[in-house]
Amino acid sequence: MCTVKAYKKFSDDRVEPVCEHFNICGGCKLQHVPYSGQLAYKQKTVYDAFTRIAKVPVGEFLPILGAPQSEYYRNKMEFAFSNKRWLLPEEIGNTSISNVEDVLGFHRPGAFDKIVDIKHCYLQGDPSNALRLGIKRMAIERDMPFFDLRVQTGMMRHVMFRTTSIGEVMVIVSFYQNDPEKIKNLLDAMIAEFPEITSLFYCINPKKNDYILDLEMVHYHGKETIEEVLRDVRFNIGPKSFFQTNSEQAGNLFNLVEEFAGLEGNENVYDLYTGIGSIALYIAHKCKQVVGIEEVGLAIEDAKRNMELNGIENAVFYAGDVRAILTKTFAEKHGKPDVLITDPPRAGMHPDVVKMLLQLEAPKIVYVSCNPATQARDLQLLHEKYDVIKVQPVDMFPHTHHVENIALLQLRS
Ligand SMILES: C[S@@+](CC[C@H](N)C(=O)[O-])C[C@H]1O[C@@H](n2cnc3c(N)ncnc32)[C@H](O)[C@@H]1O
Repeated sequence: MCTVKAYKKFSDDRVEPVCEHFNICGGCKLQHVPYSGQLAYKQKTVYDAFTRIAKVPVGEFLPILGAPQSEYYRNKMEFAFSNKRWLLPEEIGNTSISNVEDVLGFHRPGAFDKIVDIKHCYLQGDPSNALRLGIKRMAIERDMPFFDLRVQTGMMRHVMFRTTSIGEVMVIVSFYQNDPEKIKNLLDAMIAEFPEITSLFYCINPKKNDYILDLEMVHYHGKETIEEVLRDVRFNIGPKSFFQTNSEQAGNLFNLVEEFAGLEGNENVYDLYTGIGSIALYIAHKCKQVVGIEEVGLAIEDAKRNMELNGIENAVFYAGDVRAILTKTFAEKHGKPDVLITDPPRAGMHPDVVKMLLQLEAPKIVYVSCNPATQARDLQLLHEKYDVIKVQPVDMFPHTHHVENIALLQLRS
């Protein structure tokens, strides 16, 4: 990993990073760039992808939509416990300072067994910081050993906080060892000190890796889901469900998708890579039917539950790989799409899916992407039959290099 040894002169445009962990924890890497500069950089990233990779004419490059909040915008954060603290450069060599210390924070990039102890994180709003500091203190008070990432011993492993704009809070604690009495004691203390917790889960992770979504989530307290509301659509989110991590900007993104789709009420819409049906459910009131496809079966179960919760009756959801499900026979069964919305993962769409889109000939495609490079690659292929009418980047993650982009494609007559 490259690190800066010394700065000769700072750029005149540089701003003072707000966070004391800037350049140490590995997150928020653009905090020293003014927000307007971050947006310009992201706009250029999209422009470059379309002019250098896609190389297709674009009707209109719309200015990037900045996030309403550049701090405290995330609704989900995960922190790791460790019995070794990452030492700051100025602490190394000082024999009175030891790295043997119980900490809770983020992995130091490039040092898998060291955790940067986080005092305050500007990514997630209240009560995230208080919860993190509280659970750390309570675990230390109860002699619950923090995880040793190298030797793989200890008890406290991870904690995840999920918050929603209507004030619901889910906490998921991951333990390495199962000690029911100690676990109960800690969780009861958390509930007593933080009545804000509306949903509490824990899991036991004795594996070598940190991945918890394949583990049983034990429901300990409160509701089994938390609720988020985007405009008037309610989403119940379980401990394993994916949900856009910036709720406020997700609403703005979905508004733009709806606008690009130009729905008038009679359309048959396909929503590929639908996740928990977020976009499908958001636009359902504006079209005749919406058909969602998503690989993760649990997400489709959530989509169906949220459909009921919102009294939506014109949506259907299918679990499986888009490449396998989206066939000509499928389109005959559900009717040819008037508008096709696609929001694939970073890798973009499989070439076979692009081929199927070319065969389906939906009059409009709204392509949402978190990776303009793969989006540009796919648009080059779709250009065989489609024109790119307009492109609109959206900033979902201030202070990071990530950029979301929406493109409207129209079938050439
Ligand atoms: C960027 S997310 C979009 C989710 C959703 N549109 C939203 O806004 O919440 C991409 C989704 O595609 C799903 N996915 C990835 N590969 C897939 C595939 N081959 N077939 C179907 N779904 C897939 C992922 O599980 C994930 O839910």
